[in-house]
Amino acid sequence: MGFKDALTGAFLFGGLALGVSTFSPARPPAIPLAVRAPYLNTWLNAGSDGGNGGYLAGEWPVFWTQQITAWTGMIRVDGTTYQWMGAVSNSQNVNQTEFSYTSTRSNFVMNVGGQVEMNITFLSPVTPNDLKRQSLTFSYLDVGVHSLDGASHDVQLYADVSGEWASGNLNSVIEWDYGTSDGVAYHKFNLQNQTEISESRELPNWGTFYWSTGDADGLTYHSGSDVTVRTAFKNEGVLPNSKDTDFRAVNNNWPVFGFAKDLGSVSGDSVNTLFTIGLTQDNAVQLLGEGSDLTTYPSLWTSYFDSDLAAVTFFYNDFATAAGLATDLDNKVASDSIAAAGQDYLTITSLSVRQTFGALQFTGTDSDPVVFLKEISSNSDIQTVDVIFPAIPLILYSNPNLLNYLLKPLFLNQENGHYPNTNAIHDLGTFPLAKGYPDGTDEPQPLEECGNMIIMVLAYAQRTKDNDYLNQHYEILQKWAGYLIDESLIPMEQISTDDFAGPLANQTNLAIKGIIGLRAMAEISDLTGHADDATNYLDTATSYLKQWQVLGINSAADPPHTTLSYGNGSSHGLLYNLYANSLLGFGYDFVPKSVYDTQSYFYSTAALTYCVPLDSRHAYSKTDWQLWAAAISSEETRKDFISRIANWINVTPTHRPFTDLYDCATGDYPPGLQFAARPVVGGHFALLALP
Ligand SMILES: *[C@@H]1O[C@H](CO)[C@@H](O)[C@H](O)[C@H]1NC(C)=O
Ligand SMILES: *[C@@H]1O[C@H](CO)[C@@H](O)[C@H](O)[C@H]1NC(C)=O
Ligand SMILES: *[C@@H]1O[C@H](CO)[C@@H](O)[C@H](O)[C@H]1NC(C)=O
Ligand SMILES: *[C@@H]1O[C@H](CO)[C@@H](O)[C@H](O)[C@H]1NC(C)=O
Ligand SMILES: *[C@@H]1O[C@H](CO)[C@@H](O)[C@H](O)[C@H]1NC(C)=O
Repeated sequence: MGFKDALTGAFLFGGLALGVSTFSPARPPAIPLAVRAPYLNTWLNAGSDGGNGGYLAGEWPVFWTQQITAWTGMIRVDGTTYQWMGAVSNSQNVNQTEFSYTSTRSNFVMNVGGQVEMNITFLSPVTPNDLKRQSLTFSYLDVGVHSLDGASHDVQLYADVSGEWASGNLNSVIEWDYGTSDGVAYHKFNLQNQTEISESRELPNWGTFYWSTGDADGLTYHSGSDVTVRTAFKNEGVLPNSKDTDFRAVNNNWPVFGFAKDLGSVSGDSVNTLFTIGLTQDNAVQLLGEGSDLTTYPSLWTSYFDSDLAAVTFFYNDFATAAGLATDLDNKVASDSIAAAGQDYLTITSLSVRQTFGALQFTGTDSDPVVFLKEISSNSDIQTVDVIFPAIPLILYSNPNLLNYLLKPLFLNQENGHYPNTNAIHDLGTFPLAKGYPDGTDEPQPLEECGNMIIMVLAYAQRTKDNDYLNQHYEILQKWAGYLIDESLIPMEQISTDDFAGPLANQTNLAIKGIIGLRAMAEISDLTGHADDATNYLDTATSYLKQWQVLGINSAADPPHTTLSYGNGSSHGLLYNLYANSLLGFGYDFVPKSVYDTQSYFYSTAALTYCVPLDSRHAYSKTDWQLWAAAISSEETRKDFISRIANWINVTPTHRPFTDLYDCATGDYPPGLQFAARPVVGGHFALLALP
């Protein structure tokens, strides 16, 4: 892999001065740099549609929307200055020789004039079982420098961020300051005019960004226009320790916040400099839950820290511990993925962890955490049930309690009478304002969401043995199960979660979700001592399943397969909802093995170059649903699904963060459908979440 693809990269994007880098285990469509939360979500475009092939120098880092979040790095070696991050014109770029990623890290190795080597690590921690650390919306950048040629070199290191991180409206006025605290030097910057719980172009209209490094000998700083600050370093290797006080718009002589560190004489031992970037917001989300007014949810970090600076300095000084925890997670994902399905599977799973957690906003208090999810890039809905649902494999694998925290806002809204419909709600509004749909006008996916809610509730309770939870929500679960009794066997014309594919009546895959939902409700009734209910739900589910096998399977086809919709024998699709039957442990006792085998064989005959199409209407597919289907297929079919997706990651021309939707023939975006950075990639852990 690496060398050949890297060569292609060099040819396509190299131009004059690019070196040749290896990419391991793959060259992702976009490389995660600081990806921790919906508002701290910065990447490096890599795919050829809009990236430079995965080279840190020569390309601006971008927020998931593609707005530039300028992040610049320079290094001065014996008086000559090079650029290692960003795209400042007239810069001499370092030569990237290696790129690699793990679940929490993106690593670059740079050769600088054959004299020194830089080892640059972007670490975005993910600590599913440590809410204090998970609550902090900050990310690390660690830069190591050592001599390559045996000689000692005089080295100065520079890095800055621009005001672009702080606003989606570049005409907005920002203000800034510089300070030190507890061994940490920081630039802070924020909008002058703040409006809580509101966004401009997906970035928040409130909160403060902190860009920090160690307050140590050899550190200098400067705030000012991009040209002033960067030129000062380029020419002198040092900054004047001064603050610009002319607060102005982000795009008015582009204010940037620079640090320079004199590393002195660098020899064979690596000299490391740590930076952190992130944001603090006291309040995070509003929800129509208890009572008739919106409830404001504080950011969860405020439960552990009594000020911004306490959080900022804790995070900075916690690096050794955070790095150790990150390595533990990296290693766990690596060994579990390889044991389950080999390196190709790890190539996929390890690229999915930061992206999934990067859509989550941790709020509430230590004793009552509430997690909100942003449906990044498809429409920015908050708490979309059918976006949480595909992500549950990673949630269940990493900490099943997180699923409870994610479902909580949905229960609070609906159990307090804020939703009039008999089916489960689709979402709670637009992030970060979860004002619900008191008039019942959410996107109508009634069957989809009733099935999803019941399945998720049981999946959580089975893993935590939390039967109280089932009791607590029994009434509303029964209501949704009632909807499934009425509507799941013969689904009326409606959309499923794959709403971009349009509505259809009698969707075979949607029907089986509802039927498994009823089987799950029987289990819930049983676990809560409702024996009669349990019998009724089980009888209905069993009877529906028998009828479904007749209605939804074309057994005369060669090879046989389930249809996309009842009666359309030539139609077909991924029967990904069958995965829930295995996730909940019902197995072949409920759905016969023959259904699994039929589908598994059929998939192996339906693949195009980069994937198995979602259904017979289009040539595109979704990675989450493919891996749900793969998880319950034969080993051979599973391998085929996985190797196609892993290969696609390495060669796709798509350039935005890991799209779950792409064309199976071209590997590119389907026309007009550029998904990016969606948390549904948590579904890639399907194999690892099975009981
Ligand atoms: C990068 O590599 C090219 C080709 O070997 C070389 O000409 C150039 O000087 C190198 N640049 C740096 C900064 O090392
Ligand atoms: C770069 O740093 C990482 C993390 O400290 C380390 O695992 C890796 O071996 C280093 N790579 C090189 C080429 O120095
Ligand atoms: C402050 O920002 C809000 C939107 O966030 C805007 O509606 C308002 O006009 C702004 N006020 C001023 C004084 O600029
Ligand atoms: C759905 O399937 C049922 C059972 O085959 C059939 O009676 C009904 O006409 C179908 N509905 C539509 C809209 O095709
Ligand atoms: C059957 O499904 C295919 C797509 O899979 C569609 O093109 C065709 O129109 C459908 N036929 C009928 C009769 O609905």
